[in-house]
Amino acid sequence: MKRRPLFPQVGALLHGGDYNPEQWLDRPDILEEDIRLMKQAGVNTATLGVFSWSVYEPREGEYHFEWMHRIIDNLYENGIYTVLATPSGARPAWLDEAYPEALRTNLKRVRNLHGQRHNHCITSPAYRKLVRRMDEKLAEEFGSHPGVILWHISNEFGGECACELCKEKFREYLREKYHNNIEELNQEWWTTFWSHRFLDFSQIEPPAAHGEKSIHGLNLDWKRFTTANTRDFMEAEMAVFREKTPHIPITTNFMHLYMALDYNQMAKPLDIISWDSYPRYGDPDRSLYDCSVENAFDHVTMRSFKKDRPFMMMESVPSLVNWHDYNKPKRPGVHRVTALQAIACGSDTVQYFQWRKGRGSYEQYHGAVLDHLGRSDTRVFRDVEEVGRLLASLKEVQGSVVQAKAAILFDWDNRWAIDDAAAFSNKTKKYEQTCIDLFRLFVKNGVEVDLISSEEPFDGYDFLAAPMLYLLKPGVAHRLKAFTERGGQLLATYITGYVNENTLCYLGGFPGDGLTELFGLYTEEIDTLYPKEKNGADFGEEGSLQGVYVLKDYCELVKLQGARPLAVYTGDFYAGTPAVTVNDYGKGKAYYVAARMEAAGMEALLKVMWKNAGIEVKALPEGVEYHRRTGDGAAYDFFINYTNEEQVIETEAGTDLLTGEAKEGKTTLAPLGVMVCRVQV
Ligand code: GLA
Ligand code: ZN
Repeated sequence: MKRRPLFPQVGALLHGGDYNPEQWLDRPDILEEDIRLMKQAGVNTATLGVFSWSVYEPREGEYHFEWMHRIIDNLYENGIYTVLATPSGARPAWLDEAYPEALRTNLKRVRNLHGQRHNHCITSPAYRKLVRRMDEKLAEEFGSHPGVILWHISNEFGGECACELCKEKFREYLREKYHNNIEELNQEWWTTFWSHRFLDFSQIEPPAAHGEKSIHGLNLDWKRFTTANTRDFMEAEMAVFREKTPHIPITTNFMHLYMALDYNQMAKPLDIISWDSYPRYGDPDRSLYDCSVENAFDHVTMRSFKKDRPFMMMESVPSLVNWHDYNKPKRPGVHRVTALQAIACGSDTVQYFQWRKGRGSYEQYHGAVLDHLGRSDTRVFRDVEEVGRLLASLKEVQGSVVQAKAAILFDWDNRWAIDDAAAFSNKTKKYEQTCIDLFRLFVKNGVEVDLISSEEPFDGYDFLAAPMLYLLKPGVAHRLKAFTERGGQLLATYITGYVNENTLCYLGGFPGDGLTELFGLYTEEIDTLYPKEKNGADFGEEGSLQGVYVLKDYCELVKLQGARPLAVYTGDFYAGTPAVTVNDYGKGKAYYVAARMEAAGMEALLKVMWKNAGIEVKALPEGVEYHRRTGDGAAYDFFINYTNEEQVIETEAGTDLLTGEAKEGKTTLAPLGVMVCRVQV
């Protein structure tokens, strides 16, 4: 794989984060101290202007950019590059006063008052015009500055608006989707049910708790519309920079698995993916490793949006946040492993929210590199300095990427549809957790895996897992068949292929759209288990899979049409019927796990499938995460020890980039230790 460094002009992994100097313009001493300490901490980037509108344009049409010029110049002269945001994430009071249509209307149809942030109507032409004018100014003022390396559009897009403008735009969206044919919509939304037929698109309202919320097709189309409209707003912002500063790449920062926007759609027009990582480290109910595996799931979701280049961890925190239920500082050594985890998973940056704590308002206690204390001899500052040093020694990793031969389908439409389905048990649907639990087995076995939408190409993979793929988008069933036919190993589970893209159930047997043929079975019923109920999958005593594994939550009753049973249920009225099956299809195999099986059973099955797919597993001690990044003939093997004990790992012959030592064979990782070994490939 060819390397694609994100910022060749910087020539290093980025280290830095959100910096809000506009809060300190009356304290030149502090601004000077910031530069000195950034250099001391090995910071080479600052994210500026995220919430600067009211300082840039204190009154409509009165612009002040001089202060930002001074800051960017000063940073640049000191070797610190700027990620420059557009300030559309929060609006000044004058704007809402003059253009109330910019205020968001919630689903109860109540218009918000001025305040907070991220509460705009993104349809509002007035708001779009003001944002455009601001973005044009930013491009003109700063677009040719050599220190500006990236545009950061707005901040953490999210939310929905049900104002008259948005409603009308939604109806337009539906008119286009359903070919201006209300009968087509009635059919796809199954509106004859409960007498909900529409005569005209003008009768359609966005879903609301006090209105229509029972039409799954409507609920889903509303979510799709909200994504499309948000993307449209983002692209309108991007268009200014594409035209005026085509040499500067563009990102926006995502919020981990944020449910309300389909990030797969949002990711498409962006040059670089970036996201904000705030795991709940320190929760006594979960080990650091468990918490980190979930964070790895998020990292991998992000890196999978653009597999040919690194992503950015745009925000994280060196100590604590202020909005978890319990805000606990990272323990000694934790910052190191979490920073290196981001790099291991394919990020070329470790960035923070925020550089310095503000004195007042909502985020005054949010962790930062610099505390109100103002000293650099603190534990947190030293942790950041250490990460700065580690990143400097990993400079050559830039631009390399993680490559996977396996993928798990993780799909926003599917999330929405499962979440909205009035079926199964609302307490145990757990689609995301099911995907994470499966992913964890890959991490445990050192197998790289992408997390992709069902719309992404399947070529290049030898293994695909499609857990709980309830909703099938057009063409997906066909592509799953083609994948298996050419030799792929495919894994599906209970609750596969129940509905089409508009949530209409398939007739003639689930999994629908022709998948009964692929899996060689159809499902007849699904049993939802109460939490204290269990069943078992008995694999027998012969063959590569043996023993009995616990099943919980869901058991589908399937009838075979060509598939071979690998395991049968041990209990209930369906004891002895198939629980896990395999069907030979073309050169490949399609496995079906009809029930929610405990991790040990899934792992045993995965090992068989990985072997069939020619995917090697890596022996890792418990609590150690491994990833490999490659680029231009070199590979970088990352080992991260999340435990408080020493762990012994095995490396290929290479050089430990953090110490410069030659390594081969067994090596001991210190408690919370990390190793990055460069090996030839
Ligand atoms: C988000 C935002 C930041 C800040 C942090 C606090 O990620 O983008 O502006 O509010 O959360 O954790
Ligand atoms: Zn609106």
